[in-house]
Amino acid sequence: SSVARRGRGILVVFEGCDRSGKSTQCRMLVDYLKSIGRDVAHLRFPDRTTAIGQSINDYLQGTTELEDHAIHLLFSANRWESVPRIKQLLDNGTFVVVDRYAFSGVAFTAAKGYDVTWCKNPDRGLPDPDLIFYLDISTKDAQTRGSYGEERYEKAEFQERVAEIYEQLKSNDWKVVDAMKDKNEIHEEIRNTLLELEEQFSKTPLKRLWT
Ligand code: TMP
Ligand code: MG
Repeated sequence: SSVARRGRGILVVFEGCDRSGKSTQCRMLVDYLKSIGRDVAHLRFPDRTTAIGQSINDYLQGTTELEDHAIHLLFSANRWESVPRIKQLLDNGTFVVVDRYAFSGVAFTAAKGYDVTWCKNPDRGLPDPDLIFYLDISTKDAQTRGSYGEERYEKAEFQERVAEIYEQLKSNDWKVVDAMKDKNEIHEEIRNTLLELEEQFSKTPLKRLWT
């Protein structure tokens, strides 16, 4: 393109409980960025396409059992295996929009009763997201959107504990979005925030998560 290079790409992460609308908002943001001519990559974790991701998929679908710490480490390894690609995309000035990241990793394992610091350790040092959008929804409201699916963790009681851990992980720089608002309204809020902060982030070196 003839557009001058703007510096590195921006790493944007979406987090939230099941049925909070993460995937919809990721798609809407990716489509929007493409429509204004930006290079954008859409990633999601778990990435079920890799060998590690296949093991995670089997675990989530209940066809295999894995020890809690072991599955936690696989989720983390599944992020680490994509780090070279993420870094390359960002170096090339591409926006990287990610559906779930290390915060899901911590929230879901800590919700089983494990220590938050232990849960954070394997993901320490990952590329630190520039922006984290948290789609906030009560477990009750999430349930009114239809019953949960068949996968492991898709139970109201467990999701309630996941939400409690997310509350502990949230820091001031998280952008908390009311997930009960109209999806177009949410999308506008998200894209405005991103466009406002883009230039600032593109000039700051990428940081390392939890270091
Ligand atoms: P998905 O529905 O977004 O594909 O995610 C699958 C499930 O995996 C979801 O219940 C959240 C859970 N999960 C973890 O337990 N640890 C992780 O690190 C990630 C990314 C997801
Ligand atoms: Mg799911």
